[in-house]
Amino acid sequence: YTKGNFLQIDILEKVNNFYKGELYKNNFALKYLKDRGLFDSTIEKFQLGYAPDSIKQFKFFKDANLNKKELISLGVLSENGEYPRLIERITFPIFSQSGKIIAFGGRTITNHPAKYINFTNTKIFNKSKTFYGFNFAREHILRKKEMIIVEGYMDVIMLHQAGVENAVATLGTALTPEHLPIIQKLKPKVIVAYDSDSAGINAALKASKLLYSKFFEGSVCLFPEGLDPADVVKRGEDLEKYFKETIPFDTFIIEYTIKKYDIKNPLQKKAAIDELREYIATLDEILKEDFALKASRYLQISPQKLTSKSKPHTQNIN
Ligand code: CTP
Ligand code: MN
Ligand code: MN
Ligand code: MN
Ligand code: MN
Repeated sequence: YTKGNFLQIDILEKVNNFYKGELYKNNFALKYLKDRGLFDSTIEKFQLGYAPDSIKQFKFFKDANLNKKELISLGVLSENGEYPRLIERITFPIFSQSGKIIAFGGRTITNHPAKYINFTNTKIFNKSKTFYGFNFAREHILRKKEMIIVEGYMDVIMLHQAGVENAVATLGTALTPEHLPIIQKLKPKVIVAYDSDSAGINAALKASKLLYSKFFEGSVCLFPEGLDPADVVKRGEDLEKYFKETIPFDTFIIEYTIKKYDIKNPLQKKAAIDELREYIATLDEILKEDFALKASRYLQISPQKLTSKSKPHTQNIN
């Protein structure tokens, strides 16, 4: 970072200290976090806070002598400087790999239709290169040689509280190619543990396809229908059970692609074959053969049908 960015990070630290203080002035917000099962020590570790109403925030910015332009460029204020981005929300500071605050996310506690609001990208924050919780998880990932990727803030926080400290989150956005160098450096096995709902399973399918195609070893963890990791922790369930029974990326991709179709119906079977063939076409030669062979067994077809070019579906009337 340049000298300028040091100053900017310092501003976010100041804002965070203010939000942290506000949490303890707001019994409703504090109760919300307690009801969700967070310990005091967890709230402290993840430095959760509360962004109060706009008037209180502007008073703080003024008293602390924080520069408006800087607050805009860091994402604390809206583009036009008229509003704080987070108002009346629980605040989650997002840390850089070295533990500096680079952005915030905020959760409503009053059923506002936007459940979470995150800072947009700034010069110090790039969402598609950031894993939430990585600063805390890094050493555990190295020790266990395993990295768990979840969807959200609460999942990371609850897993860490339950002793699963090698978990990080992609913050609702997809796992992107830009995330991969961060994983590569630590060479862990990867466990994708997204929400067991249709959005989560689709995202897990995309993440698996990306990771498998780039030679990352790993698997997908599925929870009972509709639950996410934070829910499972809150229920007091044994997490090990789930993390031990994961589905390898290739198996998951094949099974969950096929599941989208009723392959007893020949037309749908063709569509499933086409979808797998399209993915296989993107794979490196080394992976291609192995993956096609595995997939062919599920579909009871020859592997060549999955590696050859697709024929358009036309009725043969001759
Ligand atoms: N997310 C977001 N904006 C939304 C909804 C979600 O940015 N409107 C991101 C957040 O980072 C969130 C993650 O996507 O943590 C996962 O979303 P979701 O599963 O809907 O939320 P949970 O993390 O389960 O939230 P909670 O348990 O607090 O309800
Ligand atoms: Mn979700
Ligand atoms: Mn959801
Ligand atoms: Mn969720
Ligand atoms: Mn949740």
